Amino acid sequence: MSPNPRRRVALVGATGVAGQQFLVSLDRHPWFELTTLAASSRSAGKSYTDAITDAGGHRQWFCEEPLPAAFAGMPVVDSDTFDAGSVDLVFTAVESGAARALEERFAAQVPVISTSSAFRYEDDVPVIVPGVNHEHAPLIKRQQRERGWKGFVVPIPNCTTTGLVVALAPLARRFGLRSVIMTSMQALSGAGRSPGVHSMDILDNIIPYIPKEEDKVQREASKILGTLEGDRIVPLDLPVSAHCNRVNVRDGHTECVSAGLGRAASPAEVQDALRSFGRDFTDLGLPSSPPELCRVLEDPYRPQPRIDRGTNDGMTAVVGRVRPDPVLPNGVKFVVLSHNTKLGAAKGATLVAEYLVHRGLA
Ligand SMILES: NC(=O)c1ccc[n+]([C@@H]2O[C@H](COP(=O)([O-])OP(=O)(O)OC[C@H]3O[C@@H](n4cnc5c(N)ncnc54)[C@H](OP(=O)(O)O)[C@@H]3O)[C@@H](O)[C@H]2O)c1
Repeated sequence: MSPNPRRRVALVGATGVAGQQFLVSLDRHPWFELTTLAASSRSAGKSYTDAITDAGGHRQWFCEEPLPAAFAGMPVVDSDTFDAGSVDLVFTAVESGAARALEERFAAQVPVISTSSAFRYEDDVPVIVPGVNHEHAPLIKRQQRERGWKGFVVPIPNCTTTGLVVALAPLARRFGLRSVIMTSMQALSGAGRSPGVHSMDILDNIIPYIPKEEDKVQREASKILGTLEGDRIVPLDLPVSAHCNRVNVRDGHTECVSAGLGRAASPAEVQDALRSFGRDFTDLGLPSSPPELCRVLEDPYRPQPRIDRGTNDGMTAVVGRVRPDPVLPNGVKFVVLSHNTKLGAAKGATLVAEYLVHRGLA
């Protein structure tokens, strides 16, 4: 199954919070060799270690794992002048404003797997969560045909959408899904490094607004849970009401979800649907795949971000407190936790790339 030879890959946005997690995901990766690190002109020309060290000498490395030695001394190049033709695939981890022009330029030559929202809402662009909607991947052929690109752009969703759809997809498939109300408690790392969230704003506090987040979750969930028909995705007809909050947690987004199902289902049936979901995908045994997409806990005090975010190296969504919801028709409610910078960003994007290589699409 391993591609021969290993693909040369570049990482654009290597110095940011998501970019740092990519270094961990791609360190000694069996299929991908990270040959180029790129960021803004602020970092270009420096070694990676110097680029993430501030003027006061503080090394701003935010992963729990140490900075991989293989990348510490690598030079950072300027994304604006980086030639994508020098690699086989590009991972991007930059804000959507900068991502748009960069990804368009790179995709003309090679596949681009993106963590940004720049292309997520375009009709010819699949937004892929492995195990949930990887069957949307062939839509990239339309993208290449219509845009005249040799490569393509495949974004992953917003990190809050990711945990939500991993938990909703099994319910949609088994029982049908009519409506969703979700309240998030989102980690600080989700806000990135620049500007990030100031400590004086978040200590002893909750911030009840994250710009554009609720709209992203609402649009992305319907698209991801939709079906590929011919060369278009038909979104699931699903009203989603999202309340997105920033809380004083480092990593791991926690979401309280109430869902109206297509038919009545007991909590035990819902737990079974969650537990057995996605085995066809995990059985592929891709290098970054977890052995289970969703873990269900019985302990009513779980999931908790500090304890549970690292489940299967942050690649499994953890669900707890499954119980009836008395307000919505056929209602069920639960809590889902997912690691925003691993499943929701770098390692999730790496798994998307692995799947596309496995399918012969990249
Ligand atoms: N953080 C998460 O949990 C998470 C999860 C899923 C998706 N995402 C998405 O991932 C992307 C990056 O987020 P982040 O949290 O990692 O942000 P971040 O910590 O602020 O990092 C931003 C990165 O983009 C680079 N950059 C900024 N302006 C640039 C430009 N004009 N050209 C090229 N590179 C530029 C920065 O390089 P310099 O250091 O040189 O400025 C840095 O490497 C965003 O689209 C975000 O929505 C983030």
